[in-house]
Amino acid sequence: MYSQSTVIAGGLAHIPVVIGVFSFIQKYFSKRASNFQQDTEPKKSQVKNIEKKSDPKPAPTTIPADTTVVKKKHADVPVNIYRPKTPYEGTVIENYSLLKEGAIGRVNHITFDLKDSDPFLNYVEGQSIGIMPAGVDSNGKPHKLRLYSIASTRHGDDFNGNTVSLCVRQLQYEKDGETINGVCSTYLCDIKPGDKVKITGPVGKEMLLPDEEDANIVMLATGTGIAPMRAYLRRMFEATEKEKNKWNFKGKAWLFMGAPKSANLLYEEDLQRYLIDYPENFKYTKAISREEQNSKGGRMYIQDRVLESANELFNMIEDEKTHIYLCGLKGMEPGIDEAMTKAAEEKGLNWSELRPQLKKAGRWHVETY
Ligand code: FAD
Ligand code: A2P
Repeated sequence: MYSQSTVIAGGLAHIPVVIGVFSFIQKYFSKRASNFQQDTEPKKSQVKNIEKKSDPKPAPTTIPADTTVVKKKHADVPVNIYRPKTPYEGTVIENYSLLKEGAIGRVNHITFDLKDSDPFLNYVEGQSIGIMPAGVDSNGKPHKLRLYSIASTRHGDDFNGNTVSLCVRQLQYEKDGETINGVCSTYLCDIKPGDKVKITGPVGKEMLLPDEEDANIVMLATGTGIAPMRAYLRRMFEATEKEKNKWNFKGKAWLFMGAPKSANLLYEEDLQRYLIDYPENFKYTKAISREEQNSKGGRMYIQDRVLESANELFNMIEDEKTHIYLCGLKGMEPGIDEAMTKAAEEKGLNWSELRPQLKKAGRWHVETY
């Protein structure tokens, strides 16, 4: 016979067992349910560990130092230090052509002095600034600003941290038998050292580089779309810049560059030097549209080069450390999409599913115009 207290104690002693069995059943069924959910979803891709892009905080107006302290992503990226109502008047330091003899059109490298800006107009690689061209439009109103991708690193071309550089193509087109010159691009290509220019910004967080030194960076550029890429590559491979930024890039950087003629290739000497200095880290693939032909006998575009390298490229994309940057002509987007679709198919992947995942993971960066 058991006493009443023994029965109560025995009953109590069983409680953990009952809870344990109950929680096991609960876990078992919820795991089944979540597996079922995953199984019924389409197999998206082999993209792993998709991380959510964090919301950037308002930026401070001090220069963001390179730091090893772990911070919220993009928290210290400056934006809109100068707005159109109160632009900064920067002084032109230099303005020179980037083209070789026989090139088509006009593309210039232009540098502005920022040292007198107060608050200081600082920026990071991958951002843009606004330029307000002098003069008024056909309605007598001041011209609106135009955006230009920054082509220098935050340390500037002279590494002193107080200049910003742009890579500008003069817009020209024919209308009713007349040559029309773009307002701002012509203004910029014509300005002289010592001239004052109204600058706004910086703006943009789409084209920022990842912090990780072992990231892989695939760059797809047409024409002046090389501007942000030039800043990335300087950050990665330019000796004095590296000393300043303490960012010891260890990944692979692969630039696909589209230009109409060899004489139109931009920053070519620097890129050749990086190839010699960093053969393990830098790859450079050109598509010279009016000198080379694609397999169909048409103009060679970067999307044709993407297809030629489909396997190697997608091996890289499957690595979660790889980011892809697309910059330049808006018109190239459908062509790139088509090429990526074909290239993905060759690897048994579905680009229309993969691309949004890359975007969500903050690994697909597009700035076209
Ligand atoms: P506008 O005088 O403004 O003329 C442009 C207008 O002309 C068009 O809106 C269109 O209406 C018309 N037009 C253009 N082409 C034709 C045509 N073929 N036929 C008929 N009409 C036509 N540019 C660079 O050079 N380098 C850069 O790094 C750069 N970065 C940019 C970054 C961003 C984020 C953006 C949004 C744009 C960037 N641009 C860059 C483009 C730049 O902002 C200007 O749009 C460009 O310089 C033309 O400006 P514009 O004032 O000279 O031309
Ligand atoms: P093309 O003009 O021969 O057709 P730039 O800005 O110096 O003109 O260079 C832009 C480069 O991009 C040129 O080689 C141009 O070729 C090329 N391009 C033009 N349209 C496309 C497109 N839809 N897709 C990819 N590249 C393009």
